[in-house]
Amino acid sequence: MVSTAALLAGCSHKSPSMLDAKGSEASRIAGIWWLMFALAIGVYVVVAGCITLSILRGRRRRAGTASRRSEGLWLWLGGLVGPVIVLLVIAVVTVQTTAALRKPGRDPLRVDVAGEDWWWRVHYTGTSIDTANEIHLPTGRPIEIRLTSDNVVHSFWVPQLAGKMDVIPGQRNTLRFTVNKPGVYRGQCAEFCGLQHANMAFWVIAESPGLFERWLTDHANPTLEPASETAAQGQVVFQRQACAGCHTIRGTTARGTRGPDLTDFGSRRSIGSGAADNTPANLRQWITDAPSIKPGVLMPPITLSGADARSIVAYLESLK
Ligand code: CUA
Repeated sequence: MVSTAALLAGCSHKSPSMLDAKGSEASRIAGIWWLMFALAIGVYVVVAGCITLSILRGRRRRAGTASRRSEGLWLWLGGLVGPVIVLLVIAVVTVQTTAALRKPGRDPLRVDVAGEDWWWRVHYTGTSIDTANEIHLPTGRPIEIRLTSDNVVHSFWVPQLAGKMDVIPGQRNTLRFTVNKPGVYRGQCAEFCGLQHANMAFWVIAESPGLFERWLTDHANPTLEPASETAAQGQVVFQRQACAGCHTIRGTTARGTRGPDLTDFGSRRSIGSGAADNTPANLRQWITDAPSIKPGVLMPPITLSGADARSIVAYLESLK
């Protein structure tokens, strides 16, 4: 009882629950969960009832020859027929649901997502838009997330929208779902993939089709001019330092592809796939010493003067 209470306490309102479904596929999966829950309760009640009954009656009626036949019948019913019926119901519903989840929708929006060590590379198929760790999607339209990896196995999971799907090197898996309600949905890598597996979070930002189209247009043509003099200085430092060798900022000479595309960095919620909130102070620490926030991260510490660090932070935070 105590351990159950402790487990339930872990399901705070902040962590996404697959039972709080906001996508068509997640709703189907939650449906199976409730069916299995109901069946489990049914089985529990019957078994517990039988045990109680047998304890109450056991002392009075020692196993005589008269009750042998009915005992045999109960064994067949409870031991074979009952479980077969229960498992058959679950099997049929599961196969039906799995088939429904795989069915392609009409006119899907395709997004290519690659699992990296330890972040998510996002590309909108057929556009020039690249981003990382945040996926903007429209509501009400079928989505196809095409998953790849060139390193280890990851697993893409947004509990409120769809089931888990493995991200496997050398193979492209397609996850299909439709978001029913606008909102920000947390996702998480769900396959142990190394030291920073826990810090491989991402967010799906679901908006109405109109808002999403606007986002798409804005991001196809990102703002090129730095917002302030400090930011302009930051752009110069960014391109002079090692940063541009690993990161792309579209519309500039920064074209590195090892690390995340930073074209809309200022609009992101987190730094390092959920390792820290995206605040100027955290960003400054990240730029100068990323491993102190996310041990094992590929980005090395960078030595910068105070003024240079300040200007890069101003520049990156201005990229929306
Ligand atoms: Cu990627 Cu766990």
